[in-house]
Amino acid sequence: MKQRVVVYKKLPEHLMERLRAEFDVTAFDRVDAGNRDAFAEALKSAHGMIGASLQISNDLLEAAPDLRIASTVSVGVDQFDLNYFRQRGLQLAHTPGVLNEATADTIFALILSSARRVVELAELVKAGQWKGSIGEAQFGVNVHGKTLGMIGMGRIGSAVARRAHHGFGMKILYNNTRPNPEAERELDATFVSKEDLLAQSDFVCLMLPLTAQTERMFGAREFGLMKRSAIFINASRGRIVDEAALVRALQDKTIHAAGLDVFEVEPLPADSPLLSLSNVVALPHIGSATHETRLAMAELAVDNLIAGLRGETVPHLAL
Ligand code: DGY
Repeated sequence: MKQRVVVYKKLPEHLMERLRAEFDVTAFDRVDAGNRDAFAEALKSAHGMIGASLQISNDLLEAAPDLRIASTVSVGVDQFDLNYFRQRGLQLAHTPGVLNEATADTIFALILSSARRVVELAELVKAGQWKGSIGEAQFGVNVHGKTLGMIGMGRIGSAVARRAHHGFGMKILYNNTRPNPEAERELDATFVSKEDLLAQSDFVCLMLPLTAQTERMFGAREFGLMKRSAIFINASRGRIVDEAALVRALQDKTIHAAGLDVFEVEPLPADSPLLSLSNVVALPHIGSATHETRLAMAELAVDNLIAGLRGETVPHLAL
């Protein structure tokens, strides 16, 4: 009898065919209030699950005794309780590597657009408000030659720093759980304390996984240590930041601006104070969202799932 797989994200047809060739597949393009019960019901008899963008509770998994592997189409695994996976011996696979460059491109878009006020000024043009030569009130600040402080210098952080160093002649400071000799050698990056990084950087870029240790680790104290001219960039996870403290820091000009791809609550609620601030560039969590990269992530996630259910070595286990 075929093993059963639950798909909870729309996958390209050729990948669905690969899954159907080997497994009994129940698919949901997305899970919402309308089909949450059907999803939970399907999971009860599943051996594998694959999808993304859904918080998966232990209760759901507890009701699925045959489950062997969850394969997420993301590098982040904060939607699962890792301790539960460890205790139960469940495999958890993810998609690192293939999204580094696309995510670094998004982060650079945030750096450039928040420094040069690209979104705000493009909206002015579209609104027919470009009446004459742009004056000081609309000037931005330089990116090239400035100091970039990376909090987190893993795969994506290094890809951001590479762009900054080679493309924009920026000085790179970083803080990380451990030194990154490659970044120091190739990018002339300097390991500094978090406090020194905050005090010296023109752009502070957060690139950490969300864990119990990093949740809300960045708040009023950290914004207070930044230069008043500094720009804060976050495309990792919104819950690493105390968002209310960020709003206050932007409102009272403790920091100059922010470029954000992630938020405490996503989608960002329409009444979020962040939306009324002209010194905020806000994107809808598009870090890896290009056709090529999302395809590569989906392919990797399917490879992971198939390997796990065949009892073979899973290419990318998260734990
Ligand atoms: C990831 O891969 O973790 C991206 O942030 C999408 O959730």
